[in-house]
Amino acid sequence: MVSARTAKKWADRYRAEGPSGMTDRSLRPHTSPTSTSPRLVRRIVRLRWRHRLGPVQIGGRLGLAASTVHAVLVRCKINRLSRIDRVTGEPLRRYEHPHPGSLIHVDVTKFANIPDGGGWRYLGRQQGRRDQEATARRTAVVDAAAVRLIHPSADIGPEAWLHALGASGLTAAVGIDVVARVQPGDVVWVSAAAGSVGLVAAQLAQARGARVIGSAGGREKTAYLYEQVGLDAVLDHREGAIADQLAGAAPDGLDVYCDNVGGDHLEAALDRLKVGGRAAVCGMISGYGRRQTGPANIANAIIRRLRLEGFLVTDHIERAPAVEVELRELMTSGRLQVPFTAFDGIEQAPAALMSLLRGGNLGKTIVRPVQRSTG
Ligand SMILES: NC(=O)c1ccc[n+]([C@@H]2O[C@H](COP(=O)([O-])OP(=O)(O)OC[C@H]3O[C@@H](n4cnc5c(N)ncnc54)[C@H](OP(=O)(O)O)[C@@H]3O)[C@@H](O)[C@H]2O)c1
Repeated sequence: MVSARTAKKWADRYRAEGPSGMTDRSLRPHTSPTSTSPRLVRRIVRLRWRHRLGPVQIGGRLGLAASTVHAVLVRCKINRLSRIDRVTGEPLRRYEHPHPGSLIHVDVTKFANIPDGGGWRYLGRQQGRRDQEATARRTAVVDAAAVRLIHPSADIGPEAWLHALGASGLTAAVGIDVVARVQPGDVVWVSAAAGSVGLVAAQLAQARGARVIGSAGGREKTAYLYEQVGLDAVLDHREGAIADQLAGAAPDGLDVYCDNVGGDHLEAALDRLKVGGRAAVCGMISGYGRRQTGPANIANAIIRRLRLEGFLVTDHIERAPAVEVELRELMTSGRLQVPFTAFDGIEQAPAALMSLLRGGNLGKTIVRPVQRSTG
């Protein structure tokens, strides 16, 4: 049974074309005016191959909808950007283990997602899921602008970027060069000189040609500063009044005081700074956690025309690359020593903080969340 309309269509065709018109014909139109032209398809494919652009960017350049570009790329069987190595354009291969525990090679210069996988085939789904969860816990996806690429070497470990080559080194450099503007021949006192900032500040002042006095608490630290670092004089604030010791170490006065401690240390400095002396006020650790009282002799700032300048390292981040280059060079040439005190296990963080405040550290205090294996 066919409709009268269909019967008429076939009858008309037989009359016009004879038996040769009696074959089925496709209903597909010969031309489709809204389809993407072959020329446009070529331009889309070229932009993908030459510039590794995604559908949104290609659409933006050619004035097309991203969905259209996506459809063309799928039709042309072109891999997603996340599945190719952006440099070579080659598809990334999943990494596979020939057997559990075997080494895998992951080429970190490839800019693409490396799909996780393979292991569960050997270990079973349950273990595979556990491994996947562990990987997710260890992995963080962050904005590239929020992280800094570091280049540790055989002689400079990654910890250095937590102190000398990180914020502590930058703080010291800003204090010495930008705020105090230490000159050759200056007499400079650095307090908390065995600490993270102080240790770099004292050695930078040495490198600038100054005569450097350091102060710290306890025999071990003062011996280290005098014998290992080679400071010109070292004061121990646990062995009597700091003002008296400073008078002995700097009988002709100070040109610069780098203050990490505040309190009695700042007061002693105000009595010793020469006319026109400078104080780079970096920190006042002796007053943290309690109400601070000002130095009783602050009037010396007027009489001796002193410049006391506080600073925050965060205002000087743009100097970080240049400072890192100089400090790294000093470290490699053995002119900058940067020991650190490490606590293993995140649960040690409160103890590490208390130790820092009580002076239990030499150099930077570092908490390592997981103890690093030495094997
Ligand atoms: N302005 C900034 O942008 C900036 C940036 C970073 C740090 N800071 C400041 O710089 C200072 C040093 O920081 P850091 O990270 O390098 O710490 P740190 O010097 O590594 O550790 C603090 C040291 O201060 C000493 N100290 C603590 N209480 C003291 C007291 N009552 N009298 C004398 N010394 C005392 C202790 O050393 P001893 O055993 O030798 O006494 C302790 O080891 C801090 O005040 C910090 O707040 C400022």
